[in-house]
Amino acid sequence: MRSLIDIKELSVKEIDSLIETALDIIDNPQKYSEKCKGKKLATLFFEPSTRTRLSFEAAMYELGGNVLGFSEAQSSSSAKGESVADTARMISCYADIIAMRHPKEGAPLVASMNASIPVVNAGDGGHNHPTQTLADLLTIKRKKGRFNNLTVGLCGDLKFGRTVHSLINALNRYEGIKFVLISPEELRVPSYVKNEITKAGKEYIETKDLVSAMPELDILYMTRVQKERFFNEEDYLRLKDSYILDPAKLTNAKADLSIMHPLPRVNEISVKVDTDPRAHYFEQALNGKYMRMALILMLLGIK
Ligand code: NCD
Repeated sequence: MRSLIDIKELSVKEIDSLIETALDIIDNPQKYSEKCKGKKLATLFFEPSTRTRLSFEAAMYELGGNVLGFSEAQSSSSAKGESVADTARMISCYADIIAMRHPKEGAPLVASMNASIPVVNAGDGGHNHPTQTLADLLTIKRKKGRFNNLTVGLCGDLKFGRTVHSLINALNRYEGIKFVLISPEELRVPSYVKNEITKAGKEYIETKDLVSAMPELDILYMTRVQKERFFNEEDYLRLKDSYILDPAKLTNAKADLSIMHPLPRVNEISVKVDTDPRAHYFEQALNGKYMRMALILMLLGIK
């Protein structure tokens, strides 16, 4: 029985195989429509979500399975004081696989240690978000055709942005990757993540200047300033509009730049960018469903 808590748990070969399955699902959806017949996915969301929860649910429905769960902590027994460990034990009696989002870093790991079914981390605090990374990787594969030799700009809240941490850990494994980390001083990538880049022998630079970095980027991954992780409102208000991508800022960008964003966007990307053929963030959300389908099949051991 296997869970997915951190993207590093998947080998490069396994990621390739998930991508291969996702691409086959895109081409032959009917082949997969009954693969999870009789199986149940429990979505345990202790924090708000639109894409992640609904794409997990859509993924399970499109595999012919069923879904149960809750979308806010207040409607679960955690509001009465139940521990994550006990919740995970209980849900193991009702479902075949769990997708859990939690504001506390490490909560899905604790769940996986106490559940007798696979647990997928659907985002834990400001830490990790491995299935968003799977969506990101499929998008990169479909748009760039490769994971090697890419200069990847990550822009915005790189401190609390869990999708950034997981994406860095995934791309660290490929040759010729260079990271350009674009953020205000206060929102830089945490040192434990930067250490992983160095350990992997990859290059990174840190800058505040998005426009100067633009010309060399193959991918620009924009992120939202993570309001819910700030200790005071004043800091959030000061930093929230640090970067707003608009058509003018793209003047010197590569013609084949891929603009990505895990969404939801607040102000970081002007709606005027949406019609630019390099804007790939809505497709990225769709790719999340296919990769979650592939992941559910893998964790349930269904061929
Ligand atoms: C992200 C998350 O929850 O970390 N959203 C998502 O799952 N696509 C990004 C965010 O909330 O800013």
